[in-house]
Amino acid sequence: MPKGKYIKNLTISEPVNDLFIVSSKSLNISKTNKEYLNLKLSDKTGDIEAKKWETSESEAESIVEGKVYLVKGIVTEFNQAPQIRVDKITRSGETINPADFMKSSPRDADEMENELKELVSSVSAPEPKALLEHFFSDPVFMNKFRYAPAAISMHHGYISGLLEHTLQVARAGLALAEVYNANRDVVLCGCLLHDIAKVTEYSWDSTIEFTTEGHLLGHLFQGALMVKEACGALGLSRGFTIHMEHMVLSHHGKYEWGSPKRPKSAEAMILFIADFSSANLTQIAEAVSDADSRNEKGEFTRKAKSLDRRIYRGDPLGSEETPAGLETEEEKPQFDEGDRQALFMEFLGDDQ
Ligand SMILES: [Fe+2]
Ligand SMILES: [Fe+2]
Repeated sequence: MPKGKYIKNLTISEPVNDLFIVSSKSLNISKTNKEYLNLKLSDKTGDIEAKKWETSESEAESIVEGKVYLVKGIVTEFNQAPQIRVDKITRSGETINPADFMKSSPRDADEMENELKELVSSVSAPEPKALLEHFFSDPVFMNKFRYAPAAISMHHGYISGLLEHTLQVARAGLALAEVYNANRDVVLCGCLLHDIAKVTEYSWDSTIEFTTEGHLLGHLFQGALMVKEACGALGLSRGFTIHMEHMVLSHHGKYEWGSPKRPKSAEAMILFIADFSSANLTQIAEAVSDADSRNEKGEFTRKAKSLDRRIYRGDPLGSEETPAGLETEEEKPQFDEGDRQALFMEFLGDDQ
């Protein structure tokens, strides 16, 4: 059963027979001493309070927060806000589209999938082409890759975030490959495959969580293994296989960022820089759009935790006028120039 009407479109007195995530539940006692179930139901458009009167302790216990349920009832009004009076609530055993219930990429998934397929078909070197088609022509893999998030709460931490991030890395990687005369097909292959193991690192059936593989193995090791196995099954050369494994393993760039090897080829370095740019520039964009959505004033966002700094959101050309609420408080520098230089050298992955 597909999701019918979203919470933000529900109207008072309307009957409900639809799928929702139970975000929270509690068994309460009314003033007349009757037990009732108090629920918060959610989908991608928001939350709504719900109450079920004919209930029991065992029913309350059986409901699992964070899972999808089929709810039958009617929309009522309580304290001038819509509320659902629930007649029946049952666990939905059907396959659901996670994009109906959770925050999704602002980009359309079909459009992104087409862009991915065009990039794959632009590859002419036989080995990268075979490896890319092995993954991206497999409908079972694609069905996961299309919805996977790229993170839990950092950049692209939403449904289809992995696809969005992968395309950014691929486009940035292609531009760098041209400027620095690197092998374009190998760069593209590494960019498109670098995070494939995120499909096993996270689960996203109704909330984004680390899986056991994610906790214990991580997407670098798992990704290198997926690439090695695929290259073996396809009979690809040892040299290409090792280079692709190296690109996946080194794409975080530094030991302290989780890479067991630092990038040691132009293509691997380009992948690292392209990945780094997608992660950082998306965190900047997210900090600015969060400030916009909260209608904040001032030239700087709140401190973006993941970047450990506030982001400038004024006119990039510099405005003569002082915007309302201009933040004048000086930000304490975290490092002096010497530290910055040392960090930059480290960022370049100087391997002595
Ligand atoms: Fe990664
Ligand atoms: Fe990545």
